[in-house]
Amino acid sequence: MSLLFSNCKLFTHLGRVNGDVLVGEDGKIAKIGHNLASDETINLHGKLLLPGLIDPHVHLRDPGQTYKEDFYTGTCAALAGGVTTILDMPNNSPPIISQQRLNEKNSVAKTKAVCDYGFHIGATDSNALEAQNSNAVAMKLYMGSTTGDLLVENENSLQNIFSTFKRTIVVHAEDNKCIKEASVAVYHAAENHNKMRPPLCAEISLKKAIDLTKKHSAKLHVAHMSTGGEVELVKQAKKSGLRVSCEVTPQHLFLTEEATREKGNFARLNPPLRSKSDQQALWANLSSVDCIATDHAPHTIEEKQKPYDEAPSGLPGLETTLPLLLDAFSRKRISLEEIVRLTSFGTSQVFGLVGKAQLAVGFDADFVVVDLEKETRVENGDLWTKCNWSPFDGMKLKGQVVQTFLRGNEVFDGENICVKQGSGKNVNWK
Ligand code: NCD
Ligand code: ZN
Repeated sequence: MSLLFSNCKLFTHLGRVNGDVLVGEDGKIAKIGHNLASDETINLHGKLLLPGLIDPHVHLRDPGQTYKEDFYTGTCAALAGGVTTILDMPNNSPPIISQQRLNEKNSVAKTKAVCDYGFHIGATDSNALEAQNSNAVAMKLYMGSTTGDLLVENENSLQNIFSTFKRTIVVHAEDNKCIKEASVAVYHAAENHNKMRPPLCAEISLKKAIDLTKKHSAKLHVAHMSTGGEVELVKQAKKSGLRVSCEVTPQHLFLTEEATREKGNFARLNPPLRSKSDQQALWANLSSVDCIATDHAPHTIEEKQKPYDEAPSGLPGLETTLPLLLDAFSRKRISLEEIVRLTSFGTSQVFGLVGKAQLAVGFDADFVVVDLEKETRVENGDLWTKCNWSPFDGMKLKGQVVQTFLRGNEVFDGENICVKQGSGKNVNWK
């Protein structure tokens, strides 16, 4: 059955597109235009229709730590936030570092996911070749220690990774030696997290990653870029023609280290929330940023309530990212084109995702319908993520997701998830 989306405002990364959208039986966009015939019509009454978000950086914890999140709860949170495709990180317990572990994760996702998905494989000292031959979308390289055991510090291993892995290397750039040194003289507390892992450590590490990228003609994607210094390094690298891209998180765009004073571990993530001036550098250079990633990293309330040295780092974000950006649009801080570029088009370009992220004929009909006038309050206890809290708790945001469509099917109606577990599909990449 064909389905027509009528009376909607379409926005792509290039601007407003006039017309209705016809979706074919195959769940792909068949035509964009006027006076189109269809079996069924959905009148959106002037609401905004954007490409579904693609989030390249989530930690759904499944398999291994399903008490924090699982593939069903995490992908429900995605759909409620307008995210129709996620790329899941490998720092599971045990970590996803081989094709066999990717297969195991795939069999979990296949039965539970309600949005589309792909996987990153984790880098170790010895798996570069296996990673290259695996079906992971990209490789995640932890150059600084964070949640989980994945870490590569050895110089030879790093050389081997950058010379062997030909797809995108996503780097968590925080130099571990630098972190260890910095943390000696600092009183261990959430409000000092930015001093424990200062900007300098991120910059040392990123410089190393960029040098390796240059030496081996590799392809680098900088995860959660958080400082003005990193912005300059990425801009320079891009200018000199290196294949370097980067993402920023809503946490680093909408919160600063100030939040840790009030929220403690509930505002603690790696890399840390930074200073106001670092935050401003991200906003001022959004045109050099390729995508926005949630770094959705749920931990339980009980874990976050532990003393600093025992508590984990990471914040959930799948449900709040688009509302935060829409609210920023209502305050004239960002355009709709820029939101689309950063949340879907840019991500699909970085990771070579096929058939996603464009309002164009032949692409998957993955849409998010937005009411720009609707105001909501983020509230702990009222979220789809299993951890059920948010660092943005209490914030009033203008602009809300009212419906989400995946391959032409309504999957979220503003209140409920409307599909069965296991309806998500593995994403294609090239
Ligand atoms: C992430 C997690 O909890 O998995 N934590 C975080 O603070 N961002 C890991 C990571 O991306 O560093
Ligand atoms: Zn990370």
